[in-house]
Amino acid sequence: MNLCVIGTGYVGLVTGACFAEMGNRVIGVDKDEWKIAALRTNRIPIYEPGLENIVASNVREGRLEFTTSLPEAMKEADVFFIAVGTPPQEDGSADLRHVLAVAREIGRHMDRYSILVNKSTVPVGTADKVRLAVAEELSRRSTTLEFDVVSNPEFLKEGDAVQDFRRPDRVVVGADSERAAETMRSLYYPFMRNHERILFMGVRDAEMTKYAANAMLATKISFMNEIANLCEQLGVDVENVRLGIGSDARIGYSFIYPGAGYGGSCFPKDVKALIHTAKEAGFEPHMLQSVERRNEIQKRRLFEKVVARFGADLSGVTLALWGLAFKPGTDDIREAPSLVFLRAAMSAGARIQAYDPVAMGAARAALPADWIEGGRLLFAENQYGAVEGADALVLATEWKPFRYPDFAALKRFMKTPVVFDGRNQYDPKQMKQEGFEYFAIGRGECQRVS
Ligand SMILES: NC(=O)c1ccc[n+]([C@@H]2O[C@H](COP(=O)([O-])OP(=O)(O)OC[C@H]3O[C@@H](n4cnc5c(N)ncnc54)[C@H](O)[C@@H]3O)[C@@H](O)[C@H]2O)c1
Repeated sequence: MNLCVIGTGYVGLVTGACFAEMGNRVIGVDKDEWKIAALRTNRIPIYEPGLENIVASNVREGRLEFTTSLPEAMKEADVFFIAVGTPPQEDGSADLRHVLAVAREIGRHMDRYSILVNKSTVPVGTADKVRLAVAEELSRRSTTLEFDVVSNPEFLKEGDAVQDFRRPDRVVVGADSERAAETMRSLYYPFMRNHERILFMGVRDAEMTKYAANAMLATKISFMNEIANLCEQLGVDVENVRLGIGSDARIGYSFIYPGAGYGGSCFPKDVKALIHTAKEAGFEPHMLQSVERRNEIQKRRLFEKVVARFGADLSGVTLALWGLAFKPGTDDIREAPSLVFLRAAMSAGARIQAYDPVAMGAARAALPADWIEGGRLLFAENQYGAVEGADALVLATEWKPFRYPDFAALKRFMKTPVVFDGRNQYDPKQMKQEGFEYFAIGRGECQRVS
């Protein structure tokens, strides 16, 4: 099949490459000229394990190409996957500008039956808006052409995106036409030779499913963070509680790790957007609001612990920061808890020595240049370089090399052996034996700092 994927970010690039791998011809379109130039010279603009190889091999075999021109790409394609960003607006709602701009452009150039597939995460009712945008453009051209709009939300996880796309738990397809549903079935068929895992449903149901999934996962995290904070007050070790409840099959172990809050390009914006959708519909989403509120509070926990230990004025205090990405396995720093910590600590006068295995480029581009130029924010060459002369180490992202560091080296390099562990990676008893002053999230009475 001839496909066009619009948006070559985390979702679009993986979608395009994986469909090409199954024998389809795919053109990836992006308005970002720099991204397309990079892709055309075999450079992958994002960090995503395994992606580089499948992009390279499919480009080499002529199944995958890239352009900045959607009209150009449209000459060949019959199915259009819209995978552009839907960032949050001031009021929390999803910004549909990019999605609708793409729909209009397709409407302006369409010359045969086409299927528009919404892969971006979009609120209930967006497919209707896309349909209207295309229809308006067609009527402006005094043309009548048949087309369908399908909702096919994406559930991949950054860091495991290729694997998730190749072996999805399920593929959700919201289609109101049999013709479009059949096309989607044949497109996804090669991914589920073992057994079919496509769930067909109404378009609005599919749109809602994506938000409900992300809101559920965010809820598990916020719930556990709430329990962790309570554990701190009561002198209870939340890690034992986690094991105790995770062993219940009805609860499970996933997404119940207490920590410094959830970040990334999806959970925060999707919870906010769902809250907005609910309010617009005249419904008060009490629980979703609490999930979001708890997360905002949680993202400040590390900073509060540092202040409780060192005081509100952090001038003269050097902090090593391990981890900038919002989670391990990605260079994505959008809404990362590390940045909330970093900004708060910088405002309080601290000097930061940061290290992340892949996200330092993204952080450098996103943070104020004068912090770096003024020497108050330094990016270290490796994790031990970051702790040199530091008054404390703050762990914000649980990258594997941070999980079992050389504690003796840490102590040697640091000015004072103080560790704030935002991801509960270390054993408090071992830390004590090693001679560290150790603060984690919800790990018993010794963690009470406020
Ligand atoms: N990142 C994830 O893990 C993930 C997972 C599931 C769903 N989603 C959803 O998928 C969507 C895309 O997310 P992402 O992380 O891939 O975003 P991204 O920011 O990495 O990529 C979006 C791309 O779209 C391009 N773009 C914007 N407007 C365009 C236009 N008019 N024409 C051509 N290109 C255009 C941008 O230049 C950018 O390269 C969002 O709605 C997101 O919520 C993301």
